[in-house]
Amino acid sequence: MSAPVVDLRSDTVTRPTAAMRRAMADAEVGDDVYGEDPTVNRLEHRVAELLGHEAGVFTGSGSLANQLGVRMLVEPGRELLCDSTAHVARAELGAAAVLAGVTTRTWPSERGRLEAAAPLAMMEPDAGPYLVSTAAIAVENTHNFGGGTVQPIEELQALRAGADAMGIAVHLDGARLWNAHVATGVPLAEYGALADTVSVCLSKGLGAPVGSVLVGSAERIAGARVWRKRYGGGMRQVGILAAACRYALDHQLLRLADDHARARRLAAAVAEVRPELVDTDAVETNIVVLDLAAAGLTAADVAADAREHGVLLSVLGPRTLRMVTHLDVDDDACEHAAGVLAKVLG
Ligand SMILES: Cc1ncc(COP(=O)(O)O)c(C=O)c1O
Repeated sequence: MSAPVVDLRSDTVTRPTAAMRRAMADAEVGDDVYGEDPTVNRLEHRVAELLGHEAGVFTGSGSLANQLGVRMLVEPGRELLCDSTAHVARAELGAAAVLAGVTTRTWPSERGRLEAAAPLAMMEPDAGPYLVSTAAIAVENTHNFGGGTVQPIEELQALRAGADAMGIAVHLDGARLWNAHVATGVPLAEYGALADTVSVCLSKGLGAPVGSVLVGSAERIAGARVWRKRYGGGMRQVGILAAACRYALDHQLLRLADDHARARRLAAAVAEVRPELVDTDAVETNIVVLDLAAAGLTAADVAADAREHGVLLSVLGPRTLRMVTHLDVDDDACEHAAGVLAKVLG
């Protein structure tokens, strides 16, 4: 009998467990567009409280949560600064420009790691009538395409202080802020205090099928709620999804440490046969990015080989592969994947 497929493409591929499905089936629901879904209301309140903000709004995707944050912080015709490999810049298909009339300007980085001096040097809150003025800075923690990089708290603090001094807002794309919290022990509210709006996803490492929350001031979140409806993101008896998110927070947060250990295991398996492909010390959370350039390998070929052996990898570029550990990758699956990686790269 062949081994089951190990899907390392993303932590979004998890399926709800039987217990999570039961929690969804039992959810108390109402019409959320009327603000009457008690399960959604409780989730929004809980996430806002965890992050130390006044209010939260539930969304069907992390992209929508990010875009509502950008919408509330940046007026049309002004700019958002972010890292050049940030999800908001690379993977939201130009939404800030298309939907909100926002210009994006980026700074380069090493593995997505924030050095506050870079955005602080670019900020121009009042660029005058001929240039675009800066309204907000977006930071991603952990950084997806950088390889699950955790942002240093002192850089986040320096960014917040510098941005505050210039009257510029900060948005935190915290799709995987849970991973940063579990990896570092920094309280969620400490991260939350360093941004004006924070988006978090329950549908990644936490394993819910759907669900993100944007938090911020009561006024901004009231505005975001209007824009959510305008963007077509108003949902009705959506407590069935919020119940999955609640279950994920209650039962699947602390286990992220297991994902981090398994990611380190996979990186070590690669380093054993091809040390030039991965910096094992750089694996901080549940994502491992392999740079194949030094080995003269192409990502598509390696991914196709691994697929033949039942391991799915994500091709991020011609020479870049990504592996992500998650709820549906247990120790046996991890060992199987480590063996396949050794075989296809060795
Ligand atoms: C850092 C980051 N932000 C936002 C998102 C968007 O989430 P969604 O796929 O739910 O739109 C992702 C998705 O992978 C992500 O990695």
